Amino acid sequence: MGDEVLANLMQQSQVFPPDEAFAAQANATADLYAEAEADREAFWEKQAERLHWETRWEQVLDWSNAPFAKWFVGGRLNVAYNCVDRHVADGHGDQVAIHWVGEPGDTRDITYAQLKDEVCKAANALSSLGLRAGDRVAIQLPMIPEAIVSMLACARLGLVHSVVFGGFSPAALRSRVEDADAKVVITADGQYRRGKAIPMKANVDEGLKGIDTVRNVIVVRRTGIDAPWTEGRDLWWHDLVDSQSTEHTPEAFDSEHPLFVLYTSGTTGKPKGILHTSGGYLTQAAYTHHVVFDHKPGKDVYWCTADIGWVTGHSYIVYGPLANRATQVVYEGTPNTPHEGRHWEIVQQYKVTIYYTAPTLIRTFMKWGEQIPAGYDLSSLRLLGSVGEPINPEAWLWYRKHIGNGSLPIVDTWWQTETGAIMICPLPGASALKPGSALRPLPGISAKVVNEKGEEVPHGSGGYLVLDQPWPSMLRGIWGDEERYRDTYWARFADLGFYFAGDGAKYDDDGDIWLLGRVDDVMNVSGHRISTTEVESALVSHPTVAEAAVVGASDPTTGQAIVAFVIPRGGVAQDEASGEEAIKALRDHVAKEIGPIAKPRQIMVVPELPKTRSGKIMRRLLRDVAENREIGDVTTLADSSVMDLIAKGLKSGS
Ligand code: WT7
Repeated sequence: MGDEVLANLMQQSQVFPPDEAFAAQANATADLYAEAEADREAFWEKQAERLHWETRWEQVLDWSNAPFAKWFVGGRLNVAYNCVDRHVADGHGDQVAIHWVGEPGDTRDITYAQLKDEVCKAANALSSLGLRAGDRVAIQLPMIPEAIVSMLACARLGLVHSVVFGGFSPAALRSRVEDADAKVVITADGQYRRGKAIPMKANVDEGLKGIDTVRNVIVVRRTGIDAPWTEGRDLWWHDLVDSQSTEHTPEAFDSEHPLFVLYTSGTTGKPKGILHTSGGYLTQAAYTHHVVFDHKPGKDVYWCTADIGWVTGHSYIVYGPLANRATQVVYEGTPNTPHEGRHWEIVQQYKVTIYYTAPTLIRTFMKWGEQIPAGYDLSSLRLLGSVGEPINPEAWLWYRKHIGNGSLPIVDTWWQTETGAIMICPLPGASALKPGSALRPLPGISAKVVNEKGEEVPHGSGGYLVLDQPWPSMLRGIWGDEERYRDTYWARFADLGFYFAGDGAKYDDDGDIWLLGRVDDVMNVSGHRISTTEVESALVSHPTVAEAAVVGASDPTTGQAIVAFVIPRGGVAQDEASGEEAIKALRDHVAKEIGPIAKPRQIMVVPELPKTRSGKIMRRLLRDVAENREIGDVTTLADSSVMDLIAKGLKSGS
């Protein structure tokens, strides 16, 4: 959003006070802010009491070794026990935990008692392979129950899972398996995508070529398509897991025992393994799921449409909801398979009450047309959520009108892989909502908008978003790279001890926060973080490309879209390089190197790239080209004629 556009929006913005009936039954009232403010540590201590601890902590927070936090020091718990067994022990074994819906139409309803059996069997299976607490397990699976069972089985044994999104390439899997030194990989024969079974195990094999530290690959049979097989290493899930005992005694682990690593794009080509631990992470995942989604166990039917390959799936499909004894829908497929009403059909059938999705999907629904949701009974819904990027007010208003009966609260939730759980967001029973604003830090959380010097900016102004107090679900580091952790998040405001989120933000006149998007070289495409450098590296690894520069250009559906500028290698003619086939080959190459989500929307073949005298590519100017704008200030260019060359080259090329 441009600054001017935003200023206008902030001014004319409508305000929707909380609905009285909703407020009267809400899990959280405005008092919670004051309570947390009065004593932050006492507040978090109370939230930690939502969980079952084998041993209680001695200290709430140890920040003496900042920026490495320890929460609930000395406490011991088992995360899987908290998400599954204790609900069965409390007499809720027959409650459905997961209404699973497969893309081809097959379904499974799994109760908490059944989930407990499945998790215990999988834990026994993983133990039988010799895995011990602290070992890493990579998981690349479609959205099937075994994905959740695998994560919980790891948590139960103190194994550190590293989930790799099912759409990621063999190369992306490989770098993650290598970086975390995973001993076991769990995958499937194939996955369904838009009605077709496509291979998964074959990709995993390609990714694992030459890696000899992976002892076993466990394969779930999902589609029945052929899977290549390595005798002695590969094991079918059904052969290994089905015959195991459903008895397994969970061991309690230290509150700071690593729970998972999840890789996310940074400003350099190499993804960062974000490390999360147990007690603090689960506390904040459960607390936020309770207050932000107003979740009532045994009554609500909750649905988060994310994939477990992203942090949203970790915190708001697996850990938060299950810790809170949710009944939830898990859907395997794409939203338009076999038709564009698939989500609304599922909402109608399972009487979903809470629906949490991403702005990019809301804008897609807008494109498909309001007549589609209008054809279904959505009256069960009582709360809507949004995550992944700033939600534009048009999309917010459409969501409220056409999905939310014109009346439901919408919680716009700002957070990151690094924060582990929701940080800035309305309380649905207490906040006056403003379309496009995430409003305020949740009770217990502190965030500020500051200038270059770290001084808080006045209301009505913008700057950088920082988190100025530690929080329980904060990342504990980058796997294997302490220095990069300090540099990336803590160096910018080192004297002040602020965590720098990488986002720009503004206060409006009421002091409410409006997120403005990334201020670094990270793009946000359909709510997914992709680094410009990573796509550039993929492009230059193609034999016809000499140099590449990538920018995120605004896109009506995906928020940002990837636009690449490439200089062909000597010997490759400009015409040949800009031909349809050559461009397609490049786009496919990026998909193969990183994954289809990183495919550039557009590739422009140019003779030169705009650079400063120190050789830095001026992405700002390329963004002007990509967004069809008048070219901005070119005075810092080493060679100011470059932009003319680019413009001319593009005209002749098209
Ligand atoms: C980045 C984090 C959090 C789970 C999904 C993405 C952007 C996320 C919002 C929001 C404005 C948002 C930020 C952030 N972002 N939610 N509600 N409003 N921006 O997790 O891949 O770690 O990306 O997504 O730019 O830094 P992620």
